[in-house]
Amino acid sequence: MLDKSHLMKINDKSQYKNYLPNLKRYETMSYNRCGRSGVLLPSISLGLWHNFGNYDIQANAEAILRTAFDNGITHFDLANNYGPPYGSAETNFGILYNKNFKAYRDELFIASKAGYDMWEGPYGNYGSRKHLMASIDQSLQRLNLDYVDLFYHHRPDPETPLEETAIALRDIVQQGKALYIGISNYQNNQIEEITPLLRDMKVPFIIDQARYSMLDRKIETEILPSLINNNLGAIAFSPLAQGMLTDKYIDGIPTNSRAAKNKTYLDTQTVQEKLPVIKKLNEIAEQRGQKLHQMAISWLLNQKGITSVLVGASSPNQLIDNLKSLNHLEFTNKELDLIDKLTNQFK
Ligand SMILES: NC(=O)c1ccc[n+]([C@@H]2O[C@H](COP(=O)([O-])OP(=O)(O)OC[C@H]3O[C@@H](n4cnc5c(N)ncnc54)[C@H](OP(=O)(O)O)[C@@H]3O)[C@@H](O)[C@H]2O)c1
Repeated sequence: MLDKSHLMKINDKSQYKNYLPNLKRYETMSYNRCGRSGVLLPSISLGLWHNFGNYDIQANAEAILRTAFDNGITHFDLANNYGPPYGSAETNFGILYNKNFKAYRDELFIASKAGYDMWEGPYGNYGSRKHLMASIDQSLQRLNLDYVDLFYHHRPDPETPLEETAIALRDIVQQGKALYIGISNYQNNQIEEITPLLRDMKVPFIIDQARYSMLDRKIETEILPSLINNNLGAIAFSPLAQGMLTDKYIDGIPTNSRAAKNKTYLDTQTVQEKLPVIKKLNEIAEQRGQKLHQMAISWLLNQKGITSVLVGASSPNQLIDNLKSLNHLEFTNKELDLIDKLTNQFK
């Protein structure tokens, strides 16, 4: 008898039947050119640092991803060690990608990174060729992908020569494992050093990912001008200062918030210290008819050189609420002055 199992597998669309993306998904999002590259990134991108690990609820993670894609968010940001445990955000994304988004691969711009602690021993972090080559292979396996659109060196390595890191990044592109290269958490002098190395080797190096919010403006002095000068894109991570730039902490620490949870990088003391400024910023947002988190995103999108704002979300509703920032991007000079007076201490 003819074995049809192979054919049946090829034609099996059952994995897609649960999810049909919004047909109007490209109508409200705006897309910005990343540096002087061919790549357009959505004004708002989604990061999977939190809420996609093995201790999180997969149905919620799936709903966040669907909400993102349904609203024109094409760019998903991961790293080898997002979880916890390390690797689990990539694994969970891989599962959800297979179930929901596989048919839409060419509409997605998926990033991963290597450089922070990932596995035991001397090769499990930083910027050696050994670490980067092994990590990209691990990531692709977990993500269920043949290639990532963007691969970052996640942090500078104080000991490995930048040439070694740059050559490894070039080879990752040449092997077809990543389309574009980025760096993250580099200081200005390190950006100035690696840029010509990558450019001389014709590596499609397009972007820097840096922490940037109204409560952390350090990149404004040197890094942003240097990125603009070098025609590189910039994506701002932790734009809500991990949730502090919302109204959620104004009346105390809610039990389910990031600051209340164990093993996060946001502690209640930091929240308390920042509260006086947060309250004043909240008043400005209210006068603008915006929520504080919406104003925080709108403000970043107004900064010269910012390609995309990389938000996190612990629910689909948070993401929907954040997307509303796109409806009110304009600021008066008075509003900008007030915000500047309150936050230039964080430069
Ligand atoms: N390159 C790097 O070294 C690096 C470092 C950090 C992050 N990143 C990237 O940047 C992404 C974003 O970072 P992040 O998660 O710190 O960003 P964030 O946008 O500053 O904070 C996200 C958190 O704020 C809260 N939140 C978001 N929207 C809200 C809303 N509308 N109302 C109330 N609360 C809201 C949620 O926390 P609750 O749990 O309190 O609800 C959410 O998980 C990461 O996923 C990762 O991809 C990169």
